[in-house]
Amino acid sequence: MGNRITSSLASLTECIAPQLQAVDRLFTLELESRLECVNVLVRHVSRFRGKMLRPCLVLLAGRACGADALTDAHVTIATVVEMVHMATLVHDDVLDEAELRRKGATLNHLRGNEAAVLLGDYLISHSYHLCSSLNDQFASRLIARTTNEVCEGELLQIHHRNNLDLDEETYFEMIERKTAALCASCCLLGAKLSGASEGVVARLEVYGRSLGIAFQIQDDILDIVGDASTVGKTLGIDIEKGKMTLPMIHFMRTAPREHRQLLRTLLESREADKGEKIRNLILPSGSIQYARDAARGQVERARSAIAGLPESAERQVLDVMAEFVIERGM
Ligand code: IPE
Ligand code: IPE
Ligand code: MG
Ligand code: MG
Repeated sequence: MGNRITSSLASLTECIAPQLQAVDRLFTLELESRLECVNVLVRHVSRFRGKMLRPCLVLLAGRACGADALTDAHVTIATVVEMVHMATLVHDDVLDEAELRRKGATLNHLRGNEAAVLLGDYLISHSYHLCSSLNDQFASRLIARTTNEVCEGELLQIHHRNNLDLDEETYFEMIERKTAALCASCCLLGAKLSGASEGVVARLEVYGRSLGIAFQIQDDILDIVGDASTVGKTLGIDIEKGKMTLPMIHFMRTAPREHRQLLRTLLESREADKGEKIRNLILPSGSIQYARDAARGQVERARSAIAGLPESAERQVLDVMAEFVIERGM
C-alpha cells in the first residue's frame, strides 16, 4: 500500500521532476552554515524528505497556467514553502512530543527540545531570507502572512485542547489556518508567477485551500486508523494531546449517550492503552466514514474550482493530486 501510493505520487509529479530536484538542491544549498554544529542539525532534516506536497502544488499550479511557464522563481518559492512547512513540523513535533517523523527519529527526540526549537527558527528565518531574494514584495508579504495564519491555527488548537465539546465550525477554522492556508498560497503563487489572470489565480487559490482542508482531515483520520510504519510518524497523538478532530467531534454529536460518556471518560483518563480503547469505540461508529465523506466533499470543491480552466494534461494532474490527498495511507 505504502509503495503503491508513493509510486503513484512519483508518477503524478513526473512532469515536474527536474524542478523538484532543483528544489532539493536549493534547499540544501541555502541552509548550509559555516558552523558544523548547525550543519549537523540541518543534515538531519535534509536527509528525510517527505511527500513534498507544497512544492508540488507551486510547480503544478504554475504548469497548469502554461505548459512552459515554470521559471527559477517557481523553484525558489517551492523551496521557500517547503522550508516554512519543515519549520512548522520541527516545532509541531516539540509540542506533540513526537518521536517519529518521515520514518526517522524527530530532532527533538534525538537532540532535545532546545535544538529543535532553534532549528525551527533557523528554517523559518531562512525561508524569509530566500523569499526576499526574489524582490517580489507580493510574494514576501503573502508568505509571511500565511506563516502567521499557520501559527494562529496552531494557537487556536492549543486554546481548545481538551475541549471535548469543540464544534465543527471551529475545527474547520483551525485546519483552514494551520494547513489549508499554506496550500492555498502555494497554488496562488504558482499561478501568479506564471502570469495567470486574476480569475485563474483565484480559482487555483480555492483549489489549494479545499485540497488543504481535505489533506488535514485525512491526516486526522490517519492519526486514528493509520499504520505508523506506512505513515512514518508517531500516531495517536491527537487523542494523547486532547486534540478533537472531525471523527471525534462527529462521534460526540451523534453517538448514543453512554458511548459519548465512555469517550469522555477515556479521553480524560491517563490509562496507557486509552488510544486503543478509543479506536475500538470509534471504528464501528460511522464517524470515520463521516470524516472521509467530508474530505471527499472538499476534493470535489477543489476539482470544481479548476473545472473552468481549459482542458489540459496539466489540469488533469491537479485533479489526480486532489484525489491523492484523500486516498493516501502516508
Ligand atoms: C504533515 O504534512 C503536517 C500536516 C499538515 C498534516 P505532510 O504529511 O505533508 O508531511 P511531509 O512533508 O510529507 O512529511
Ligand atoms: C500539524 O498538524 C499541522 C502543522 C501546521 C504543523 P498535525 O499535528 O496533525 O501534523 P502531524 O500529524 O504531526 O504531521
Ligand atoms: Mg503533530
Ligand atoms: Mg496529524
